[in-house]
Amino acid sequence: MAGNKRPLPMRLRRLITLSVAGALVIGVTGLFGLPKLLSEHVAQLPDSIQNIADQVQAKPVTIFDPPKYSIDEAGSIWAVVNKQRQISPLKYKPSRLSYPTFPKPKIQNPYGLQLRTEAALAAEQLAASMQEAGLGNLILNSGFRTYKNQQGLYNRTKDTRGLAVAEKLSARPGHSEHQLGLAADFSVQGEGCVIMVCFGKTEAGAWLAENAHQQGFIVRYPRGYKAITGFQYEPWHFRYVGVELATEMKVKAIATLEEFWSLESAPDYAAPAG
Ligand code: DAL
Ligand code: ZN
Repeated sequence: MAGNKRPLPMRLRRLITLSVAGALVIGVTGLFGLPKLLSEHVAQLPDSIQNIADQVQAKPVTIFDPPKYSIDEAGSIWAVVNKQRQISPLKYKPSRLSYPTFPKPKIQNPYGLQLRTEAALAAEQLAASMQEAGLGNLILNSGFRTYKNQQGLYNRTKDTRGLAVAEKLSARPGHSEHQLGLAADFSVQGEGCVIMVCFGKTEAGAWLAENAHQQGFIVRYPRGYKAITGFQYEPWHFRYVGVELATEMKVKAIATLEEFWSLESAPDYAAPAG
């Protein structure tokens, strides 16, 4: 049968050659010409759309993963305790506590205190950052407290300064972040105002409030939020929540954990003092 093939007529052959050449020209133009054509049009986008396009390209997206840790479990670095949210179990003690390793332990940890291991490491880094910034030695004045320690402290404050002062300054046992091992009361050598409101106005106190999030700490009881947190302004009390959450709060300018997690404000305890 192959021998029966007859050559195509000349006209038909020309037509096929022209079609193939045409397809080639269109293909090459499409491949190389289209992006140019598009980019010319994109360059002519109205300013507002162009601005949005530029911003989307320029800004790295913050990825925050709210369900990562629990806010209810005492062992979570995101645990929220306040006057309405008691620690559970009531006499909880963290399983991993460490002494922060500071370059000058006698000055920086004069009472030999511990923090939860993550918070202890973060405190060491914070102390190093302060040194780098030329602001001197960070001092840890209070760290992890057992339920019993907290009970003693609350009762002493009540006995010496009265119930009203105790209630706004010292948490009842079972309600303190110090019992979680995640709270640190800081001061800075030579700055004075140790565990005093004026610490917030010192250079070091102001620097800590501005920068401590980089190591995962927040000022837990900011000025003007007593109706939400239940406690007066404590510029010395830093709470470790991890870099991710501390940075997210800073970026969003949300001052309290209650507001960040849309929790009820906690101005008072459910029960009056016993
Ligand atoms: N000073 C804070 C509220 C505490 O006792 O935990
Ligand atoms: Zn404290």
